[in-house]
Amino acid sequence: MILGNVAFSVFALFLAISIDHTSSQCVKQSSCTCVFPNGEGYNISSLSTDTLKSIPVSNYTFAFQPCRNIVMNIVSTNSECNKSPGVSLCAYSKIQNQTYNFGTVEETTFEEVQGIETYTALVLKHESNITYIRLICCETCENPRLVMNHDPKFGQKNHLTLMSVHTCKIKMVSTGLSTGSFLVILLFIFSGIYLIGGALTMKFLRGATGLEMLPNYAFWSDFPSLVRDGIAFTFSGCKADSYDRI
Ligand SMILES: *[C@@H]1O[C@H](CO)[C@@H](O)[C@H](O)[C@H]1NC(C)=O
Ligand SMILES: *[C@@H]1O[C@H](CO)[C@@H](O)[C@H](O)[C@H]1NC(C)=O
Ligand SMILES: *[C@@H]1O[C@H](CO)[C@@H](O)[C@H](O)[C@H]1NC(C)=O
Ligand SMILES: *[C@@H]1O[C@H](CO)[C@@H](O)[C@H](O)[C@H]1NC(C)=O
Repeated sequence: MILGNVAFSVFALFLAISIDHTSSQCVKQSSCTCVFPNGEGYNISSLSTDTLKSIPVSNYTFAFQPCRNIVMNIVSTNSECNKSPGVSLCAYSKIQNQTYNFGTVEETTFEEVQGIETYTALVLKHESNITYIRLICCETCENPRLVMNHDPKFGQKNHLTLMSVHTCKIKMVSTGLSTGSFLVILLFIFSGIYLIGGALTMKFLRGATGLEMLPNYAFWSDFPSLVRDGIAFTFSGCKADSYDRI
């Protein structure tokens, strides 16, 4: 029974921690898919064939392949964009006639970006440079479009928008049950087994009747006074002898 109590406590703790960890982030499953805790998510793997190019803004152009690293020979310079295994996002500066690695698929995450409104973005963090690529659902777009949001402070922080029929939030997982609700159901099942199994054990092994059939009856009936002791102990400034046990 002591073992049962320990197992039960560990399980309850595990439950509390896992509920605490239930976030609303879209968790990356593969380079091109992610799933929210509610089973919705994004699958942009249909964009794995073309490299998307943005219209130049302030003489800068971005080339983007969301699903894999590819070699992008925009200009033949000694840039990481040109070297195998390549990059996911490459920026070209017309003035410098140079390309820069702005991130690989390994440096990409799906994030819920908090702003005036919250939106889902692919976030590429390459060393100190960070690029947010907002995913916008466009049911009428024939071809995917990559747009630079505004005149960027090119380099450290960049904002792009990716519009396509493939960047819509969709149902990814058919089972409606989240990990959290699954664990709550498990908790009820285990509580039931603990109470009923415990009661039967006490009745048939020890011939207990009434309330004494409750498993660990002594412990639970002591529980309120243990809590009272604990509170009294805390309020007395943790002096052990300040409370007389009856
Ligand atoms: C994502 O979409 C592709 C193409 O439509 C499909 O083959 C693939 O199974 C999908 N992946 C997931 C995880 O839904
Ligand atoms: C873009 O480059 C051209 C020369 O190639 C230059 O005249 C122009 O001012 C540049 N534009 C910006 C916004 O830097
Ligand atoms: C850019 O650099 C490449 C390689 O160094 C060179 O071949 C090309 O002519 C340059 N282009 C411009 C517009 O300067
Ligand atoms: C960040 O991007 C700029 C290009 O604007 C580049 O010069 C710089 O080297 C990049 N920084 C890192 C750490 O990659």
